Amino acid sequence: MNNTKIDNAIALLKRIETDFSPAAFANSLGAEDMVLTDLIAKAAPTIESFSLDTGRLPEETHKLMRKLSERYPLPIRVYFPDSRDVEADLAAHGFNGFYDSVEARKACCHARKVLPLKRALTDKKAWITGLRRDQAPTRADLAEQQDDVENGLVKFNPLIDWSETDVWNYIREHNVPYNKLHDRSYPSIGCAPCTRAIASGEDIRAGRWWWERPDQKECGLHRRN
Ligand code: ADX
Ligand code: SF4
Repeated sequence: MNNTKIDNAIALLKRIETDFSPAAFANSLGAEDMVLTDLIAKAAPTIESFSLDTGRLPEETHKLMRKLSERYPLPIRVYFPDSRDVEADLAAHGFNGFYDSVEARKACCHARKVLPLKRALTDKKAWITGLRRDQAPTRADLAEQQDDVENGLVKFNPLIDWSETDVWNYIREHNVPYNKLHDRSYPSIGCAPCTRAIASGEDIRAGRWWWERPDQKECGLHRRN
């Protein structure tokens, strides 16, 4: 694969480590985030990592979490939603109410992802994500470095110009562990009830919130300024 892209990502991670400490890497354990896990462990190991466990993740993601902790010596802090927020959401929208409307779906993502994210970013100068431009129409104009006004810090997307092929070449060439759902036609993985396998030729995020329009498929973690 293109070594320049790897070198650029490493240079950026080192710069974040030096100039934006404390910085935190948001690790969903998706393919991009496994690349970043490997790069951070090798090149910028003082960057902290955290994961948001929504309480609805697939079993395969938890299996990978265990594998990851065996392979990499770096701790990964896991944030769960506040039970009161989940209870309030259930009272308002019912079980699996996220299938009923975009508003109900966003409320569930808010309780289970966005509020825990705010806790994870407290006192941080920067956060790092595995967002790529070609993942979705909602991500096409992202920058490598952005002011995250909503959360009051800087956001870095070191794989912004990587393609899906770049990601998988890196994973294979460096023997990086990955979620076994990827081998079963799940290119993008979120919560179990909101992710399904895609058919050949479908967009890589077609299996995420498949009942919604592509321009609505953001969970609130990545608000635009
Ligand atoms: S999502 O907003 O649709 O769920 P996606 O799965 O593409 O996002 O992930 C984009 C980036 O958001 C990931 O690379 C990661 O940095 C961050 N992210 C998403 N979900 C989580 C999670 N559960 N825990 C930590 N970071 C996450
Ligand atoms: Fe809730 Fe689905 Fe969002 Fe997960 S992805 S937090 S289950 S609406």
